[in-house]
Amino acid sequence: MTQDEMKKASAVKALDFIENDTIVGVGTGSTVNHFIDALATIKHNINGAVSSSEESTKRLQAHGIEVFDLNSINTLDVYVDGADEITKHMSMIKGGGAALTREKIVAAVAKKFICIADDSKQVKVLGNFPLPVEVIPMARSYVARELVKLGGDPVYRQGVVTDNGNVILDVHNMSIVDPKALEDSINSIVGVVTNGLFAQRGADILVLGSAQGVDIIK
Ligand code: 5RP
Repeated sequence: MTQDEMKKASAVKALDFIENDTIVGVGTGSTVNHFIDALATIKHNINGAVSSSEESTKRLQAHGIEVFDLNSINTLDVYVDGADEITKHMSMIKGGGAALTREKIVAAVAKKFICIADDSKQVKVLGNFPLPVEVIPMARSYVARELVKLGGDPVYRQGVVTDNGNVILDVHNMSIVDPKALEDSINSIVGVVTNGLFAQRGADILVLGSAQGVDIIK
């Protein structure tokens, strides 16, 4: 089984968590693209979606799935999204696709975060994947200096502008022993919009695709 087939198997399995007549929170990335394609097969059973990126919005709409403004809804039962890394404590690094801020907002509203991933994403300790930090453009150099003080090596993601008009610093070699504390410290740097640590609000359920099949981990 290829990595993409494992992503697809996990994405299709996540349909089991979608209730009829609900609005579904939808993340961003290649695993989520499989989920959107799977969601299209049950689109007449759901009321629509809330999206975490322009990319996912386009794909949802291309399938004829209505996309709602997050401000127009009061509750969201389920948010389905991928991850770049996830631990057994359900803390994640996200933002490889630069959609971390909107992903974190939709995840904050949702009652349940369903993470869909292939088993290469499961790690003992976060940080091998460079930690994305979304930054207001004029604060880029200042924030980079502050991240160096925290022990990281920030690298400007050239040519990438987020859906919110900001830039991304990818922080390499960061020691992430306490993900919740680090999430807070990075977010308290002036000029940071948010960082890709999803530890304060981690996943509730991991739908993990591997060569052996799909496991549901709670
Ligand atoms: C986008 C993300 C994605 O969920 C993450 O990068 C995983 O992507 P993929 O499913 O393509 O492996 O956080 O900002």
